[in-house]
Amino acid sequence: MDWKWTWLHIYRVLFIGVNCGGYIEASSDSDGIIHSPRYPSNYDDNVVCIWLIEAQSGYSISLSMDEIQLEKEGTGSGCVDFVEIRNGSSIQTLLYHDCDNTSNNTIQARWLWIKFYTNYVTSNKGFTSSWRVVRDPCI
Ligand SMILES: *[C@@H]1O[C@H](CO)[C@@H](O)[C@H](O)[C@H]1NC(C)=O
Ligand SMILES: *[C@@H]1O[C@H](CO)[C@@H](O)[C@H](O)[C@H]1NC(C)=O
Ligand SMILES: *[C@@H]1O[C@H](CO)[C@@H](O)[C@H](O)[C@H]1NC(C)=O
Repeated sequence: MDWKWTWLHIYRVLFIGVNCGGYIEASSDSDGIIHSPRYPSNYDDNVVCIWLIEAQSGYSISLSMDEIQLEKEGTGSGCVDFVEIRNGSSIQTLLYHDCDNTSNNTIQARWLWIKFYTNYVTSNKGFTSSWRVVRDPCI
């Protein structure tokens, strides 16, 4: 079983119950934008989107969280709706989890697993992020 097959298999399993998102196989000079559905108009309740962006060997995806405005807890600072980014899959290292933080916002890895989650109530503007492929001699 090669890596490609393994990742595609994990991707399929992870995407059960998902409304939106997608798999992006990024070529070495590509870039793109990932945003919440209908951004900059408000997103819907009960949304789960998962994207998986994969760079070729020797490259990484560098993603910048350009704007993010999602529902927070009424009184606290916790996030009710959120964007979560992990290093390749749902069980790998957490690289980002937030609802309104664009500080120190560049996330980089060869595979970025990105989840957008919204609960059953209250909407907001959403998020937009831009990614590009960078040469990464460490990979
Ligand atoms: C992601 O995982 C790979 C493989 O385990 C590792 O080499 C790399 O350093 C990790 N990247 C980050 C940003 O955690
Ligand atoms: C961003 O990271 C730098 C270096 O780690 C740190 O000095 C700075 O305070 C951080 N800024 C914010 C807004 O978190
Ligand atoms: C925003 O994100 C940066 C980088 O992950 C982190 O250092 C900082 O503490 C966060 N700020 C808030 C207010 O959570």
